[in-house]
Amino acid sequence: MKKTLIQGGTVVTAVDTYAADVAIVDGKIAAIFGPDAAPAGPWDVTIDARGKYIMPGGIDAHTHLDMPFGGTTSSDDFETGTRAAAYGGTTSLVDFAIQAKGEPLQKGVDAWHEKAEGKAAIDYGFHLIMTDVNDGTVAEMGRVVSEGITSFKMFMAYPGVLFVDDAQIFRGMQRASELGALVCMHAENGIAIDVLVQQALAKGHTSPIYHALTRPQVMEAEGTHRAICLAEMAQAPVYMVHLSATRALEQVVEGRDRGLPVFAETCPQYLFLSQDDLARPDFEGAKYVCTPALRPANMQEDLWRGLRTHDLQVVSTDHCPFCQKGQKELGKDSFAKIPNGMPGVETRMYLLWDGGVRAGRISMNRFVEITSTAPAKIFGMYPRKGTVAVGADADLLVWDGEKRHVLSERTLHMRVDYSPYEGREVVGAPSHVLSRGNVVVENGQYLGKKGDGRFLKRGTFNLM
Ligand code: URP
Ligand code: ZN
Ligand code: ZN
Repeated sequence: MKKTLIQGGTVVTAVDTYAADVAIVDGKIAAIFGPDAAPAGPWDVTIDARGKYIMPGGIDAHTHLDMPFGGTTSSDDFETGTRAAAYGGTTSLVDFAIQAKGEPLQKGVDAWHEKAEGKAAIDYGFHLIMTDVNDGTVAEMGRVVSEGITSFKMFMAYPGVLFVDDAQIFRGMQRASELGALVCMHAENGIAIDVLVQQALAKGHTSPIYHALTRPQVMEAEGTHRAICLAEMAQAPVYMVHLSATRALEQVVEGRDRGLPVFAETCPQYLFLSQDDLARPDFEGAKYVCTPALRPANMQEDLWRGLRTHDLQVVSTDHCPFCQKGQKELGKDSFAKIPNGMPGVETRMYLLWDGGVRAGRISMNRFVEITSTAPAKIFGMYPRKGTVAVGADADLLVWDGEKRHVLSERTLHMRVDYSPYEGREVVGAPSHVLSRGNVVVENGQYLGKKGDGRFLKRGTFNLM
């Protein structure tokens, strides 16, 4: 029976802030004592949290590890991606398994288990991307849910690759609703976008900025509106992934104001980067190609407002890294061939603390909520994950709110040859990261090992 005491810290949850000692027994939070009121021990491990915060570990509900996409494969696998996540204070993630077109759902699930098993540094779950919704796969959805994969993603974008049409989306939503599963939507009108892409290329417009110019926000607003209407007809909850723009947010607000179970996440890239980054010279813009595209900088404050008003509930990363050398370069002659995606699993907590809490845009409690508690609740992991409470997994951060550091590809741990935030100074970092009670990162040193992470069998959706 391993016993750990975190002493003298300030516990921060989504709702409370108070001085306490936190006792951990066998990987679970066993007791929370008033300041310095914990028994003298013996403790196997004691951690001094004086002057620091004790918070639930981050939960990243949107990653793409080891994912074949855009003619290549995302550069972090489950070993490197989950380790980098741990360095940055994320202790659980939910990755997207993919059903290949024409194949059973189970084959996609099995493939992702194979990618992750024995490799992950932190606990992980899966959503399942459905690329075919038909009698066979609809029938299979129940089994997938019973295995703890309780959310499905469908794409209105990427025609010929991941795209499914409205009939398929509607059927998938109806079945998900019956099963208590949640549908995650990539809401962008990919069919119309492809026309703009072909027209731009025909005019010789090949550089990365055209990625943004051919995917205007109206295409995301239209997709978001359509997804909410389809979900309303299907009487299903819906979760908009990687929401990037003002007009898409307006659609979410409108749906929520009508009382619909509409949820949405945004990502750090839409809060901290902008379309201007895609215009960087010498093909530098390729580093910033992700979908939906980065937007004009004036939309960032609308997203922050959405986070403050709870119209946006989650910030996850959409971590989907591709190296500039050899991967992004595939699109040297055509922006349409640049693999879509950016690294972010390690930097989310740093950026949101620095640019959110320290900048006065959100409170510490809201920081915990959008990075951990809300994704745990929405995706069926709460209260095992996402809070500091007796009985919860001891996935905890001892967070030094004053730690100053500079984000750089050279010091970050994701397997990718650039950082979109290169040179940016941020304040705030974990001194200790605990995964089920084990210290996996201490003062920037990784102490965990490959395979420590376990598959998270998630519960069904229960927020209606
Ligand atoms: O650019 C992105 N977002 N790549 C990953 C695939 C997706 O749409 O989430
Ligand atoms: Zn997507
Ligand atoms: Zn994604």
